[in-house]
Amino acid sequence: MSDVVTLERRGETALIRIDNPPVNALERAVRDGLRVAVAQVRDDPDIRAVVVYAAGRTFVAGADIAEFETPDFETDGFREVLDQIEALDRPVIAAIHGTALGGGLELAMACHYRVAVPTARVGLPEVTLGLLPGAAGTQRLPRLAGAEKALDMMLTGRAISAREAVQAGIVDELLEDELVPGALAFAEQVAQRNDPLPRTSPRAVDPATVPDQLFQRAREQLVKRPTGNPGPSRIIQCVEAAVQLPFEQGVELEARLFQECRESRESAALRHRFFAEREARKIPGLPRDLELRPVKRVGVVGAGTMGGGIAMNFLSAGLPVVIVEAEQAALDRGIGLVRKNYEASAAKGRMSASQVDACMALLHGTLDYADLADCDLVIEAVFENMQIKETVCQRLGEVCKPGAIIASNTSTLDVNRLARATGRPNDVLGMHFFSPANVMRLLEVVRGGDTAPEVLATVMQLAGAIGKVPVVSGVCYGFIGNRMLESYLRETEFLLLEGATPSQVDRAIQSLGLPMGPCRMIDLAGVDVAAKVVIEHRATGGLPDDPAYRAVVQALMEQGRHGQKTGAGYYRYEDRKPLEDAEVLELCGQLARRFGIEHRRSISDEEIIERCLYPLINEGARILEEGIAYRPGDIDTVWINGYGFPDYLGGPMFWADTVGVQEVCQRLADYADLRGNDHGYWDRSALLERMAAQGLAFSDWPFS
Ligand code: CAA
Repeated sequence: MSDVVTLERRGETALIRIDNPPVNALERAVRDGLRVAVAQVRDDPDIRAVVVYAAGRTFVAGADIAEFETPDFETDGFREVLDQIEALDRPVIAAIHGTALGGGLELAMACHYRVAVPTARVGLPEVTLGLLPGAAGTQRLPRLAGAEKALDMMLTGRAISAREAVQAGIVDELLEDELVPGALAFAEQVAQRNDPLPRTSPRAVDPATVPDQLFQRAREQLVKRPTGNPGPSRIIQCVEAAVQLPFEQGVELEARLFQECRESRESAALRHRFFAEREARKIPGLPRDLELRPVKRVGVVGAGTMGGGIAMNFLSAGLPVVIVEAEQAALDRGIGLVRKNYEASAAKGRMSASQVDACMALLHGTLDYADLADCDLVIEAVFENMQIKETVCQRLGEVCKPGAIIASNTSTLDVNRLARATGRPNDVLGMHFFSPANVMRLLEVVRGGDTAPEVLATVMQLAGAIGKVPVVSGVCYGFIGNRMLESYLRETEFLLLEGATPSQVDRAIQSLGLPMGPCRMIDLAGVDVAAKVVIEHRATGGLPDDPAYRAVVQALMEQGRHGQKTGAGYYRYEDRKPLEDAEVLELCGQLARRFGIEHRRSISDEEIIERCLYPLINEGARILEEGIAYRPGDIDTVWINGYGFPDYLGGPMFWADTVGVQEVCQRLADYADLRGNDHGYWDRSALLERMAAQGLAFSDWPFS
């Protein structure tokens, strides 16, 4: 037998055990091991029943996603093993704990029975990788659970609880006992009953159980909300085939469509995202056995929208939070907002009233910094101004207990300076949450020059525990995300000065798949907020000596056009609908004349995309070169989770590879010629130039 699949006899039952840590992914050795085990069962007439289970923390979590990158990857071999399991003439029982996902659930569905511990979850999440289940899952699940349920599970990729799986007909029984003894007892019972074996593939889906227009409605949804993900439309096709065609024909279709998905650039991008998010949690150079600091109680300074949102992350994870404000009215308002947000979630059915109360009971508001003395982590979320934040940090350095971690939620300021203000820089780092902080998954964890390794590791681990996707950034203006955003917004504004309209810029950017172009994005975030960032940046000497630099956003603020909230910004708004505004075009014309910028008759969408995104990629390369980000995938993780960059494009650095680094570099040089380069806007980063010269891609990182 193989190392990863073993067969053991317990009386007349054979126990097939899969042991391939960490998540028992179905790599080749597992597939081969299963084939051998099935043959052994077939050849041994004394075996009356078979239990398939997995060791460690979970049942099989699916195919080995890394194997999809190999050009000759196919699912035929695994499907054959599944058919052999189903064809066995003795009952085969899948015993599920943890998560049975993707190929894991497909394996379970090929067995004749499925039993699960109550905490188990099952699902077909392939769509999140731009795929469809490729080992007959699209054909077996509808036969077990009905077309509607199967379609929903495959289109959302959502894993359902064992209890829901019982109701859906996917799992036969919940085990009250422990996994293996419970499954053995179940196996003995079915072996004794000698019932005909309930195989899934020969079943038909009763058309009467398929809601009218199920597939048409699903397709209409896709038209309404288009996505670049190649999975959904093909999943619909496969489930429809499961209703209409014999099993074998459905499987043939599935195999063809699976390959189409796997070979698509979009699926490659989504697979890149999967691994990049996991890689981002790893901090090079930190010892594995580092002792983390315990975090049982959290403090937040500032009960504004950001502070309240930050607090909610911890409350929802069951951690008590002390929130400090300067004035009672602001404190009451902040706490009220937290409650309102929770109640809104409850109204949508996402939590119960008692869960709302439980979260609120963990929140303690105070005006007294001394109440932070027993917190293990304190995050300041006060107004984005160096003096104010320095004062707060100094105060925190005094009141926080020894060993407490002090974090700043700054989005742009120098974390090293704030760390020094505390008088204990080893305890300090940045925790840059994105707004709304209780919703957005990204957390930039800013590693200061003196941040202690265990402080960094503790916060990375905590971030995972509160459901965030953490990415480490070094200290620089704007960290990874906002620093790159700056070049994107710079070119947006120059394009407006040269004669492009806000809607033209937004449309061009949205045509790539970004949910919102830059003008709508700032209108939503607040023109005043964006303009103040520019003004503050200029005040600290961080901007080039160019009066035209981001002049539009500042002029809009001066005119009181603060964005959607004031009914006017880059657009004017009617019922929250953005409309092109002649006043803004006139304003851009005036500014262009003032700065001697030539008005151009027509600017192509291609130019808009290149000018907004190629400098952003160039800045990403600089960020890598300076060691601000550890890897290109970290940058992609930031942009997908914090800025809505389409996941099926893989993030800006992955996308740069698909465009071609040489092409990006060449176009930057072309624009330097075309637009002039007095302020160095089109200077290529040394890394990008080297990559272009050597034919390297970001996926080749780290370069030797
Ligand atoms: N293939 C390869 N590696 C995998 C994997 C998979 N299917 N699932 C998890 N891993 C790896 C992760 O990359 C990670 O590796 P590192 O420790 O080196 O970073 C490790 O296993 C642990 O994973 P997580 O950090 O994600 O652990 P978790 O406990 O937070 O979550 C999980 C566990 C719920 C199983 C989660 O990993 C997950 O959702 N995995 C993906 C499941 C999936 O998409 N399955 C479908 C695969 S496609 C398929 O099966 C096609 C088919 O039809 C044949």
